Amino acid sequence: MTQAADLLDPAERLDLDGLRALQLERLRHSLQHAYENVPFYRESFDKAGVHPDDCRSLSDLSRFPFTTKADLRANYPYGMFAVPQERIRRLHASSGTTGRPTVVGYTENDLSMWSDMVARSLRAAGGRPGDIAHIAYGYGLFTGGLGAHYGAERLGCTVIPASGGMTSRQVTLIQDLNPSIIMVTPSYMLTLLDEFERQGVDPRSTSLRVGVFGAEPWTQDMRREIEERFAIDAVDIYGLSEVIGPGVAQECVETKDGLHIWEDHFFPEVVDPITGEVLPEGEQGELVFTSLTKEAMPIVRYRTRDLTRLLPGTARVFRRMEKVTGRSDDMVILRGVNLFPTQIEEIVLRTPGVAPHFQLRLTTSGRMDALTVRAEARPDADAATREVAARSIVQAVKDGIGVSVEAEIVDPESLERSVGKIRRIVDLRERRD
Ligand code: DLL
Repeated sequence: MTQAADLLDPAERLDLDGLRALQLERLRHSLQHAYENVPFYRESFDKAGVHPDDCRSLSDLSRFPFTTKADLRANYPYGMFAVPQERIRRLHASSGTTGRPTVVGYTENDLSMWSDMVARSLRAAGGRPGDIAHIAYGYGLFTGGLGAHYGAERLGCTVIPASGGMTSRQVTLIQDLNPSIIMVTPSYMLTLLDEFERQGVDPRSTSLRVGVFGAEPWTQDMRREIEERFAIDAVDIYGLSEVIGPGVAQECVETKDGLHIWEDHFFPEVVDPITGEVLPEGEQGELVFTSLTKEAMPIVRYRTRDLTRLLPGTARVFRRMEKVTGRSDDMVILRGVNLFPTQIEEIVLRTPGVAPHFQLRLTTSGRMDALTVRAEARPDADAATREVAARSIVQAVKDGIGVSVEAEIVDPESLERSVGKIRRIVDLRERRD
């Protein structure tokens, strides 16, 4: 599909020099805004001996200190806000699975910019005004549902605010209301797939044309699986509440080659996770974002803990980020070898007789950690196929990742299904402290 130039918004039509000039102007303003209105930033800049006036080029940003999740927690709930409460129109919060939740706030302009970015994302995904968009990201404090909702409305879509859960009703809604776009986590899309099959409805027969999947890591193999089973285009949307929500970066349907970062609003860097040094384009490291236009909660060099690399633009002038490999928090260190759930996903999805549902179970065996890949058999897989599958998973992990694991092929529909973000790792290790 070609992207008609007149559908792009003005920033998408800038050339590289124009974009860099716009970013620098916005960056200087945003650093000033943070410094003047958020005591945390004033203290951290002062402590590092930098002042917003020191930012004369985009590379000067590397002189400014990082902001971490711990900083946001320490300033819970409103300490990072840069405007008076009367100007805050909405709050969202992160799920808080790894500790105290963090609260984020939006002014009217922030909400409008966010809607614009999700609308831009949907357009890049192949959505057009007049499309019907089924939104099965959770509505509520999570940014997925409402973020997608207002962005789809901004583009001019008809929105079905399904939210997550009530899976059998989702299938009915999709059949009856004829959406062309679905926005949902990839793992919940697989739950929907089961439900289509349970109801005897061919998932390839629906009106769906495009799926916009994000909020958790997923692989190229998962893309192939979903595209094939549903007969749709599957594209990746990335974002995080601390930066805005969904719509920080989006894969273009015509290239499917990584996610274009909407860097006229969110300035990316990739840094070495250990030293914090800025890495050159193309090198893998931790993604860091600085907001360029946010009012309520400007964020300076926020460490996302997401691992990826930056690449030059293709379908757009904006730089791309490669599909996220995983979060540093989700990395398992097994007998000295680093392992991400996405690496196991690739292997499971390439194993004949195995369904795309798996879980990683960590246990203690003697003084060592052990990992069992538990994957579900496809309904037609017999005992012999399952045995071959288990052996081939063990071998593929050994060959590809370099560590020994166990594999167990469990009965169809026996693993927990996702209704939102899936939890891949079940940690049953004994605590050694
Ligand atoms: O998950 C926002 C979102 C909603 C994005 C819907 C896309 C679609 P949080 O709950 O704050 O916000 O979680 C952010 O989720 O740091 C990543 O670790 C992960 N994540 C989000 N999108 C992707 C993606 C939303 N496309 C955290 N690929 C981020 C991999 C993703 N990981």
